[in-house]
This record gives sequence, C-alpha cells and structure tokens, in this order.
Amino acid sequence: MRDFIPSRFSVTAALFVSLSACAPQEEATDTAVTESAYNTDLNMQEIMALVLEPAADILWDSGGWVMDASGYEELYPTTDDGWAYVRAQAAIVVESGNSLAIPGRAEDNDAWMIYSEGLSDAGILAMEAAAAQDKEAFFQAGAQLYSVCTACHQAYNPDILNRFDSEEAD
Ligand code: HEC
Repeated sequence: MRDFIPSRFSVTAALFVSLSACAPQEEATDTAVTESAYNTDLNMQEIMALVLEPAADILWDSGGWVMDASGYEELYPTTDDGWAYVRAQAAIVVESGNSLAIPGRAEDNDAWMIYSEGLSDAGILAMEAAAAQDKEAFFQAGAQLYSVCTACHQAYNPDILNRFDSEEAD
C-alpha cells in the first residue's frame, strides 16, 4: 500500500503530509507504516534462493582449493577483475543482511536481528579481504558466512538446515 504522492508536492512536504495524515488514524499500526515504507514483495524463500544464495555460492566457489585429476586447483580469483567481482557478490551479502532485518521481514527483534547483522558483518569481511586480495582472510570470511547461514536456519527453520546441508554436501 504505497501512498500516491502527487508530483506537485516536494518529497519532504509529501512525506510530512503522509506522516501527519497517518498519525491520528486508528489503523496506523506498525504494519501500515511498514507497508508504505518498504517493498517486501519478495518472500523469504525468494530472497534466499534468488538474492542471497547465488551471491554466497559465488563466494564459496571462489575460496580454497579443490582436488581434481590434475592435482590441487586453487579457486581464488587470479585477476583484479576476478577479485572485484567477488567483492561485489560480498556487497550483495552485506545488503541482504539489511533486507532480512527490515520491518515486515524480521521475525523478531532478538536473535533474528543478530543473525541478520552477522550476515552483513561476514559480507564486510569478505569485501575487505577481496579488496586486499587476501586469500586467507577471504577464506575465513566464507567460513564465518557459512556459520551465520546455518545458525539462523537452525534457529528458525531446521527443515531448511537439513536440506541446505545436503545440497552443500553434493
Ligand atoms: C536471519 C536468518 C537467516 C539467515 C542469516 C539466512 N537464512 Fe536462509 N532461510 C531463512 C529462513 C527463515 C528460511 C525459510 C524460508 C521459508 O521457507 O519460508 C530460509 C531458507 C533458505 C533457503 C531455502 C529457500 C527455498 O527455496 O525454500 C536457502 C537456499 C537459504 N535459506 C540459503 C541461505 C544462505 C546461503 C544463507 C547465508 C549466506 C542464509 N540462507 C542465511 C533464514 C535465514
């Protein structure tokens, strides 16, 4: 429910008008304010599957080593562009933390907020490591990220935890 803002109003004036118009009304609950302030059309599954997981997967696929037929292969980016790309994926993780924490999405004002913040923190570490092209720090950031994902899933959706872990193990 977005307020329609006539173009003749300045943004500030329109904001003031819509806030003062809401204030005295009975139905100006938290929900009403939330709906007008944030777009929460994407549900939790969509944010996870379409925004957060693709970015996190790129981070995890860009750190460490794998053993293949030709021996150990390093997964870390090898060019400036490669590091810039993973840094951008880390930025998506940072902002996903904010997306999870907004009113209308946050499941509570307690552990959920701590996990959301933890997601952003891990993303910042990954961004810093990518900027410095520091492989060890980047790997550690990926591990920290993984522990935040699993901790939140364990707390809020144990079914997802199982599914998620078995997908990772494939
Ligand atoms: C703040 C809590 C929280 C954090 C942090 C979090 N998740 Fe989730 N995740 C959830 C919840 C809740 C669901 C279940 C959504 C539902 O089914 O309604 C979920 C579901 C998922 C799903 C299943 C989506 C689907 O299609 O059903 C995937 C995949 C996923 N998360 C990946 C991740 C990854 C990867 C990370 C870390 C990079 C992460 N999540 C971090 C709360 C979180």
